[in-house]
Amino acid sequence: MDSKHAPLPSFEAHAARLAGTHLRTLVNDDARAQRLRRRVGPILLDITRQKLDVPALDAVGQYIEGTGWQAARDAMFEGKHINTSEDRAVLHTALRGGASRHPAAPAEVRKEVADALDKMEQLVSAVHRGEGASVGLIDGVTDVVNIGIGGSDLGPRLAVHALEQFHVKGIRSHFLTNVDGQAATDLMKQLDPAHTLVILVSKSFNTQETLLNGGVFRQWILKANDGDETRTSKHFIAVSSNVEAVNTWGASQVLPMWDYVGGRFSLWSAVGASIAFSIGMQGFRELLAGAAEADDHFRDAAWQDNVPVLLAIAELWNRNVLGRSSRAVVPYVDSLADLPSYLQQLEMESLGKHVHPDDGSEVAQSTVPVVWGSIGTNAQHAYFQALHQGTDTVPLEFIGLVKPAHPLRENHDVLLSNLLAQAAALSLGKTFDEALAEAKTGTDDERRALAAQRTFKGDRPSTVFMLDSLTPHSLGALIALYEHKVFMLGHLWGINAFDQWGVELGKVIAKQIYPSLANDKSAGDLGQFDGATRGLIEAIRERR
Ligand code: F6P
Repeated sequence: MDSKHAPLPSFEAHAARLAGTHLRTLVNDDARAQRLRRRVGPILLDITRQKLDVPALDAVGQYIEGTGWQAARDAMFEGKHINTSEDRAVLHTALRGGASRHPAAPAEVRKEVADALDKMEQLVSAVHRGEGASVGLIDGVTDVVNIGIGGSDLGPRLAVHALEQFHVKGIRSHFLTNVDGQAATDLMKQLDPAHTLVILVSKSFNTQETLLNGGVFRQWILKANDGDETRTSKHFIAVSSNVEAVNTWGASQVLPMWDYVGGRFSLWSAVGASIAFSIGMQGFRELLAGAAEADDHFRDAAWQDNVPVLLAIAELWNRNVLGRSSRAVVPYVDSLADLPSYLQQLEMESLGKHVHPDDGSEVAQSTVPVVWGSIGTNAQHAYFQALHQGTDTVPLEFIGLVKPAHPLRENHDVLLSNLLAQAAALSLGKTFDEALAEAKTGTDDERRALAAQRTFKGDRPSTVFMLDSLTPHSLGALIALYEHKVFMLGHLWGINAFDQWGVELGKVIAKQIYPSLANDKSAGDLGQFDGATRGLIEAIRERR
């Protein structure tokens, strides 16, 4: 299909100039550093180790200024139907709009969001007082299980684990996501059904894994309640936008979701109920306030100061100018261990697209890189060798805390010095001559061979996020900054960041295959499948 979309500029002259400028030189330019460090409340963004100089930064910034990004951004905040393939507004920002300096969502949206928060507050407070029965739930809840997948799991899981030090005493939180029956079995072994509250989270209420796991937990609790359906329903809260389906499921309480909130942007809604159960409603509102601070920043700051825009510039430069195909996210914060998988969905489900939505034409440039990563320093002892000396350059994102929640200062200083050292080593490297000077023994050839192996080319880019501390506020702000980076890249690449048609095909095929595994009358003819699938089904059947 012909495209009316202009391709991204190549920024060729800037790229050529920078190809000959090592990060070792760039990082010592103080004027440049002034442009590449920005703060939003408790979060410092440092992109001084990206391979950009000021002229290149300005060239990309000026290009972005000409794309109408502010109007596109405002259209999102105001609730215009920018998710065109589903004809939906994109209003996750309205979920935290109550804490914004200038909420922009339509009044009816603001009202239903505020009402849902109030209802959530009633449930959470009653359970925390040990009086769940006063709101139709069980008394004496000790364990809250979130059953959901994708956006109905990853955001709540990230926040609950990240905010461990804010957890309300007496309530343990659990997440059941995969349909692997081992996960449900192992979790049930740890729990007492009499004191277990389940939050069944599914925006569509049509997700096979979630409904199956919900059914497993319902049977388990029903059995413990001697088949009493009414008593069993008091163990369940359902969160969904599918009003009809959810009302027939048998949960005592239902919290709403709306079609204007995408799953991967939904932790700010009742999808985040498990966060509120674990840190309390005040903590949840602080999380929203942190996100609102990032929203206000995104709406108010000029591109030069705008953290999501700068993040998008760094990504665009790495992906489209330098051709980097992945980005590693490495939090030097154990409690942010879930951040890489959260960002995988946020970024890859949003930006893993290859056509322009208005005319279906192919985009001219690469879109989302593979996002991956895990916590440091552990990652240093696993795959950092390849990041330092492998043949591919992988941009990194480091996340650190100035002040940890624990008192072990020495541990923290060792952790932080490793973060700083990795960013430095990746960018500066070590020259052959430096390595040769260190090789003291052996023949000349042997010394040279050893030096070659101990040379680090460096020039490997990274970003550092430094949070003052990990609180509901700073976590909310950090996640919202990433969300807005995603918005910016969707805008710049000309793709719809808010649908996810790419996950549908596999779901349909799984439903076709499922009866065949049973090898009974319900199974259709295996001839309906391709040869590779048929072969594997036969192999599984034979060994059952
Ligand atoms: O399969 C992808 C997806 O639709 C995600 O976008 C979503 O977060 C997840 O499944 C779960 O969907 P639901 O909340 O409707 O169960």
